[in-house]
Amino acid sequence: MILVTGGAGFIGANFVLDWLATRDEPVLNLDALTYAGNRENLASLDGDARHVFVHGDICDRALIDRLLAEHQPRAIVHFAAESHVDRSIHGPGEFMRTNVEGTFTLLEAARAHWQGLDGDAKAAFRFHHVSTDEVYGSLGPNDPAFTETKTYEPNSPYSASKAASDHLVRAWHHTYGLPVTTSNCSNNYGPYHFPEKLIPLIIANALAGKPLPVYGDGQQIRDWLYVTDHCSAIRAILDKGTSGEVYNVGGWNEKPNIDIVKTLCALLDELQPDPAGSYSRLITYVADRPGHDRRYAIDARKIERELGWRPAETFETGIRKTVAWYLEHQDWVAHVQSGAYREWVEKNYAAR
Ligand code: NAD
Ligand code: TYD
Repeated sequence: MILVTGGAGFIGANFVLDWLATRDEPVLNLDALTYAGNRENLASLDGDARHVFVHGDICDRALIDRLLAEHQPRAIVHFAAESHVDRSIHGPGEFMRTNVEGTFTLLEAARAHWQGLDGDAKAAFRFHHVSTDEVYGSLGPNDPAFTETKTYEPNSPYSASKAASDHLVRAWHHTYGLPVTTSNCSNNYGPYHFPEKLIPLIIANALAGKPLPVYGDGQQIRDWLYVTDHCSAIRAILDKGTSGEVYNVGGWNEKPNIDIVKTLCALLDELQPDPAGSYSRLITYVADRPGHDRRYAIDARKIERELGWRPAETFETGIRKTVAWYLEHQDWVAHVQSGAYREWVEKNYAAR
């Protein structure tokens, strides 16, 4: 089996669902169920013996030791993290704990476990670390896209904590020989995306007739990838990736934020028109994010050349599927917009 951390979050849940839809290998899913973790994302797996869910923390070394000894996973796929830049600005402590200390704890447990394996099991073991393009910093309009050798220049507490975790993974390979791979991926979007992030927030606010907050001038550029394409990239790395290597994963879809917001408004106008007029009337420019990175872009040629991976979705197909999913899953959105979610919205947007 494989051990997945953070498998009740946005990308982790998509990964677990896709994995069990395409393979028969069981998944041990370790998740602390923070505000971002949601068992409802995995409801379709209820009663499926191939999915073993453990409610626990990646900082809990004794728990991880026990899980590794008991289940003997052949690979660890490490998603668990605090993942939202704005939250890291309001409170960086939890990011250091989960992203840095948690990754350290997991690496140490994996090292002890791997050193105790023999022969084929030891040679086949893998620790895959899921990271972000944000560790590379911000690009100017004419800079080349990030390659795997780009210098690390993290600018937010979130990206700094992820950069630290990437360095730990690298060092555990070079010093101890732990078989690791790392992927640095661009912005994901798709089903089960928590509505604190741009795309699901805009859809939820538009349907509720609320302002659509665009930070600063809205000209910041992100490279968007449909979440199932990220999942297929990780499967390709697990299957064919080389130990010690880093793979950049992206969608070849650079878009300014304001274009994303306008595209969402146009799709909603088509699929669920509002008698009050186009949703674009709700677009509201608000105070910028401190230290806001201007542009991210991924050069994904290495993973294509070496592992034969390319995204299956274009932005046009992926964003249409995403809007349709949110329209069909309004109850999911309502459930995650709990009391704690409303407190976050108040904290992040009231003073903007
Ligand atoms: P998310 O915030 O939706 O989910 C994170 C999950 O980790 C949640 O289920 C949460 O309960 C769990 N978790 C948090 N702290 C934990 C702890 N201490 N112990 C165990 N579980 C814990 O995040 P996501 O968007 O799904 O991102 C998953 C991974 O992918 C992260 O490592 C993130 O840095 C990386 N990533 C995300 C994106 C993106 O666009 N969302 C892009 C590139 C890389
Ligand atoms: P986000 O989804 O938080 O991802 P990240 O910061 O990891 O890239 O934000 C994507 C972009 O959208 C980013 O440039 C910030 C911007 N943004 C807004 O303009 N308004 C919002 O309300 C949010 C949440 C994000």
